[in-house]
Amino acid sequence: MSEQCKCGQKALDAETIKKWELDHVLYPWQVQKGLNPLIVDRAEGNYFYDINGKQYLDFTSQFVYSNLGHADKRMVKAISDQVARLETASSPFATEPKAKLAKLIADVTPGDISKTYFSTSGAEANEGAVKLARMSTGREKIISRFVGYHGSTYGAMALSNDYRNWACEPSIPSVTRCLGPYCYRCPFGATYPACDLQCAKHVEDVIRFEGEKRVAGFISEPIVGANGIIVPPDGYWQKIREICDKYGVMLILDEVMTGFGRTGKWFACEHWNVVPDIMTMAKGVTSGYVPLGATSMRPHVAAAFENKQWVHGHTYSGHALGMAAGVAAIEIYKEDNMIENAAKMGEYLIDKVRELQDKHPSVGDVRGKGLFVGMELVKNRKTKEPIHDPWIEGPRTPTAKMKVLGKVMQEGVYCLPGQTSVLMMAPPLTVTKAEIDRAIAAFDVALALSDAEVTE
Ligand SMILES: Cc1ncc(COP(=O)(O)O)c(C=O)c1O
Repeated sequence: MSEQCKCGQKALDAETIKKWELDHVLYPWQVQKGLNPLIVDRAEGNYFYDINGKQYLDFTSQFVYSNLGHADKRMVKAISDQVARLETASSPFATEPKAKLAKLIADVTPGDISKTYFSTSGAEANEGAVKLARMSTGREKIISRFVGYHGSTYGAMALSNDYRNWACEPSIPSVTRCLGPYCYRCPFGATYPACDLQCAKHVEDVIRFEGEKRVAGFISEPIVGANGIIVPPDGYWQKIREICDKYGVMLILDEVMTGFGRTGKWFACEHWNVVPDIMTMAKGVTSGYVPLGATSMRPHVAAAFENKQWVHGHTYSGHALGMAAGVAAIEIYKEDNMIENAAKMGEYLIDKVRELQDKHPSVGDVRGKGLFVGMELVKNRKTKEPIHDPWIEGPRTPTAKMKVLGKVMQEGVYCLPGQTSVLMMAPPLTVTKAEIDRAIAAFDVALALSDAEVTE
C-alpha cells in the first residue's frame, strides 16, 4: 500500500488498521474477543481485494446489496456529480434527484404503489411501515412471522424472529407472530399441495384470535432471506392477500433483500402477482453505494395523511446522495437488462447447486428464485437434523457450515453465513457463468467438510 492515499491522508499499514479497529470499533453481531477481520482494500465488478491484493469473488454481494457489482463508473459519476452540486438539502425542500427517484420507484414497483417515504436503512423502512399501518388504519396490532428478519432496531426486532431478538426483549408491544411456510420442514407437518395451504389459513385464525378490527398490518419477507432463503409455495401470497383484504389488514412486504432484481423480477412479490399495501426497500435500491431505505405505499394508505400529519421523519430523509445513487442504480438495472440477467443466471446457478446436492450427502435441500439460492446443510437427510443450530446465545465453536464457508473463502469465494443451517448464494446481478462455475468448484471441495459429519 502506498504512503499516501489518493485522498491525501497518510495511509495506514495493515497492523495499524487492525489494531485501531479492534481497539476502537464495536463490531456488529460479534463476540468481540478473538476477532481477526480481513482488511478489505478495494473492490471492482464482482470482486473485492484484501490489503495484500488477494482477490475474492463476492458471492453474496456483501450483505446482499451490491446488486450492480462494485465501482460501477456510472454510479461513481452520479454520486460525485451530486456531491459537487448539492450534497444535501433537508427534507421539506424538493430536489431534482428526490423527484426522479420517487417517480422511478413508482414506475418499477408493482400495481398502484405510488408514494414513498425515504429513510436510510431497511430497519428504518420497516419502522416507518409499522407506523404507516397503525396511523392509516387507526388499529394497533401487527402480525409478523416466526423465522423472519426485519432489522435490529427495537421495533424491527419485535417484527423479527430468530435468536437475535432475545437481546432486545422486551421490545415494542402489540406485535404477535404466526407460523410461516417452510415446506422442507413444514411446521404443520403437512405436504404441499395436499396441505391446502394451512400456513396461509393459520394467518386468518391469528387475525381472528387477535381481534379482526384490532389488527393493523401483517408484515413478512416475500421470500425469507437471512433465516434460510425460504420460498413459499405457490398460492400462499395470493391467499394472504385475500385474507388481508377481508379484514382490512395492511399487507406489508419487506423487499429489503429481495427487491431490485435479486429474485429475477424487480420485486419478489411479482412471482405471485401480489401487490402489497406497503412495501419496504433498502440494499439494492442504491446497490449499497449510499445507505438508503424506502417505504412505498398505495394511494389508499397515503390518503390517510392528506388531512392528518405524518408524524415521522429522519434528519437524512431524502438525502441527495442517496437519491442520486438510487436514480443511477435504477437506470443501470434497466440499461444493462440486469433483472433479465438475474433470472437467466439464477436458473444456471440453481441447476449447478442441485448438482452439488446430487454429489454431497450433507446438502439436504436446495431452493431459491433468481440469484437468491439457499443450500440447507443437514447431518442426515432422513432426520433432517441441521448441521448448524441457529438458536444460539453467546460464542460457540465453528460448526461444519462455518468450516465450509472458511474453506471457500480460502479458495477466494466470499459467501455470507446467514442465520440457519443454510448457505446463502446471492452474487451481484452481473455474475457470469464462469464466475458461478468458480464458486461451485470451491463449494464442491469445501462440502467434504460437512459431508464428513453426515451420520447415515
Ligand atoms: C429482509 C430484511 N429486512 C430488513 C433488514 C434490515 O436492514 P438494515 O440492516 O439496512 O437495517 C434486512 C437486513 O439484512 C433484511 O434482510
